[in-house]
Amino acid sequence: MSLLRVGVLISGRGSNLQAILDAIARGELAAGVAVVGSNRADAAGLERARRAGVPTVVADRAEFPMRAERQARLLEALDAHDVELLVLAGFDEILGPALLGRFPGRVLNIHPSLLPAFGGGMHAARDALAYGVKVSGCTVHFVTADVDQGPIVLQAAVPVEEADDELALAARILEQEHRLLPHAVQLFAEGRLALEGRRVRILDAAALPAALG
Ligand code: GAR
Repeated sequence: MSLLRVGVLISGRGSNLQAILDAIARGELAAGVAVVGSNRADAAGLERARRAGVPTVVADRAEFPMRAERQARLLEALDAHDVELLVLAGFDEILGPALLGRFPGRVLNIHPSLLPAFGGGMHAARDALAYGVKVSGCTVHFVTADVDQGPIVLQAAVPVEEADDELALAARILEQEHRLLPHAVQLFAEGRLALEGRRVRILDAAALPAALG
């Protein structure tokens, strides 16, 4: 059986991309990263992709000021690399209808809060601290047109500690992200995510027909 071809979109550091690449290298994730796209030419994660021998594509704001143009360029590259699952790993733009329509039910996002709390931005740890919650965490969810409101695949809770500042809390959440995101991709690759309404059921591997398992 051929490996699931994953496309990853990033905007920055790319540590979640690295977690996926590392899980693949360790043999814990039966998938291949076919291409990494970024909307920022200076995203550090691009170097991580190159080091792993993964093709990269950049649709920078300077070159493509309109979001639709940037995403059209990224979509072209995803198609050229036959991507089957799109993973948003720190991608800081809302997906427009062209990208979303191309991958119905096939886009995962990692967000550093327990959704539906503190969605819709790139500073969830800061927002959680400012609100005063005692528990935060991270969420992997399917992406829909409603930003950060798509069906939830996996969540991990992270307690807020008295001494936490944004950096400390975000760092502890990030550790959980690195565990959760490759796991979610693996479940998708195994065909174990079943949507019922907005609930994602995780099917038991043993119950799957052999062809899928
Ligand atoms: C991660 O914490 C990710 O959850 C967050 O950006 C960071 C990217 O880090 N994404 C969002 O806030 C999406 N709204 P990384 O580039 O090191 O993976």
